[in-house]
Amino acid sequence: MTAPAFLLFGAHGDLALRMLWPSLFRLHCDGSLPEDMALYGVSRSGSTAELHAHLHKALAEELNEGNRHRLAGFLAKTEFVNLDAGHATDYAGLADILRKAGRHVAISYLSMPPDLFTPIVANLQGAGLIDPRTRVILEKPIGKDLASSRAISDGVAGALAETQTYRIDHYLGKEAVQNLLALRFGNAIFEPLWNSHHIESVHISIAESLGIGGRWAYYNKSGALRDMVQNHMLQLISLIAMEPPVNGSSEAIRNEKIKVLQALHPITESNFAERVIFGQYTASTDGSLPGYNDEADAAETSDTETFVAIKAHVDNWRWKGVPFYLKTGKRLASKHTEVIITFKEVPQFLFGQKPDADLCNRLVIQMQPDESITLEIFNKTPDVHEFVLKPVALNLEINEAGNGKIRHIAYERLIRDAIKGDRTLFVRRDELEQAWAWIDQIHAARKAARAPLLHYPAGCHGPDFE
Ligand code: BG6
Repeated sequence: MTAPAFLLFGAHGDLALRMLWPSLFRLHCDGSLPEDMALYGVSRSGSTAELHAHLHKALAEELNEGNRHRLAGFLAKTEFVNLDAGHATDYAGLADILRKAGRHVAISYLSMPPDLFTPIVANLQGAGLIDPRTRVILEKPIGKDLASSRAISDGVAGALAETQTYRIDHYLGKEAVQNLLALRFGNAIFEPLWNSHHIESVHISIAESLGIGGRWAYYNKSGALRDMVQNHMLQLISLIAMEPPVNGSSEAIRNEKIKVLQALHPITESNFAERVIFGQYTASTDGSLPGYNDEADAAETSDTETFVAIKAHVDNWRWKGVPFYLKTGKRLASKHTEVIITFKEVPQFLFGQKPDADLCNRLVIQMQPDESITLEIFNKTPDVHEFVLKPVALNLEINEAGNGKIRHIAYERLIRDAIKGDRTLFVRRDELEQAWAWIDQIHAARKAARAPLLHYPAGCHGPDFE
């Protein structure tokens, strides 16, 4: 019996320093890392001393009176391994370190470009570092289209079973996203209304205020459709539109999620113009923020979209005819993620003059930056002369429901689940491929339709869309 090792490939990268190491530290502090698990930061150059110096900085914001004393123990568990991920021969050194330490690879987290996934997994296998206990976490993006994603999945499947493959979408680790399941399937009151007979439309928006500065090279090959819709937005639509699973197991939930993706109405050249808009930010009107093509690391003039809005339809009995408006963009007026379920109007209005606003109840699920659920209902305003209706909000502040418990960052939850072997919040291969197939179609339709790219000034709400 050997002790477990956690390998973090890309140990000095931006994601590792901002999210992954802090998540590991939090798990260490609350006792969720196996006591005997050692952490190995893997990268092309560096040393343990250098990694520890990075960690001191990266974890500074995490430290408080309650956990400061745990930092030394965390660093003592953490070692650096010098390895060029693409060099098969370097893995013998890694195997040697682990053998001497009496450890097997329990988790390998690949926070690396996707073209390295197959070589890394093959090299780990070649060095005898994959056994049935090993789980490999793949960071997004997994490919850039269906063909490349399939090639990666085939490549890693050469060394790993699907049950050992953990494809991450950090949105699934967010409390507010998991709460969609609780809201839908933990309450009896919504389910009877959750269909095209009662719902008029669904809006899913992920707005970001930051631009692309610093990530231009990656983003320019990706664009908003691949970067945000293919993964996060399609995961949200799956959770909102799925049928109740037969039980709470990971397979039962994922079996229902994929059916939503399979039911997405194809976007083609002929319906593109009424269904999709692509946009790109230009300099802000006051000139303080640069346009996408003027970002410091912009290498060329590009028509990559930084904004996309899609009117999607889920073609099944429950949702036929209900538009799902998906909207996401960079450099918008604010950062927020929100889902709005708009219910149908009452069939006949009984109270004299209709108010200007539509008489629709709305369920507003705010996911970021604050989490809240609001049900907007109509109420009589106190007045002896007239019978006037006004919308009022029934408000649930999620932080209150949590009794003041600390909120966890998404990666913390996902790493913990991978260690425990729970795959519910990871993306299955068929889900991923179904999502890519829909996205590829939109790219092809954009090209065929010669769709215009709409420009919007940084800091505004983006191009108009329903
Ligand atoms: C990432 C995208 O997956 O999600 C980024 O690559 C985006 O471009 C980020 O900024 C948004 O995540 P969050 O958690 O800040 O909403």
